[in-house]
Amino acid sequence: MIIHSIKAFADNYIWCIQEGTEAVVVDPGTANGVLDYLEEKQLRLAAILLTHKHEDHTGGVVEIMARHPESQIYGPKETEALANRIVKEGNTFNLLGQTIQVSETGGHTHGHISFLMGNNLFCGDALFSGGCGRVFTGDYEAQYETLQKFKHLDDDIIIYPGHEYTETNLRFAHDMQPDNEKIFKVLEEVRELRAKGEPTLPTTIGREKEINLFLQVDTLDDFIELRNARDDF
Ligand SMILES: [Fe+2]
Repeated sequence: MIIHSIKAFADNYIWCIQEGTEAVVVDPGTANGVLDYLEEKQLRLAAILLTHKHEDHTGGVVEIMARHPESQIYGPKETEALANRIVKEGNTFNLLGQTIQVSETGGHTHGHISFLMGNNLFCGDALFSGGCGRVFTGDYEAQYETLQKFKHLDDDIIIYPGHEYTETNLRFAHDMQPDNEKIFKVLEEVRELRAKGEPTLPTTIGREKEINLFLQVDTLDDFIELRNARDDF
């Protein structure tokens, strides 16, 4: 299985999962890049996975479907205007010969879900490297519970978030914890990668436990305080 990132807009990633001649794309905010890639690699699009309703994760669906009308679109209820397979916590389904598990990871939006495919977690805007999504719903408890879920996953789970926010997140983390050497070391590595225009993703649960302050908070109040500080950073 190959997992390839397609860049979109300023800092989105559309993940393309390939097995043989079949592909699945996650959160196509635009058709640009996706259609070209599928054509270039001669891939049949089996499905689109949507983590949440935001336009920068769904905006390409209609145009992609016009060219790949056989594809299935899996998403939470909040994407029902586009998705023809509505999925929720605990649902499983098969794609590319693998089982995909759905978990509810709300907070950024009410209906946000994440997809676990083998060892690979597609988490949209619920978790980033060094950070987590803005709590647009105002439901901080939901986002806190989401972070607790991620924290209990195995360290070797590979994470594919929807945005390249790592450098800003780690600058914030370094600002909060200037003596934390691990965070500073990773920030330096990330700065080098970004200077070359290279992605800092995917990451892993194990790595995030070390550098992501949002996975280190122990109470809801601490989470709210940290999230507010990040919003103002
Ligand atoms: Fe979003």
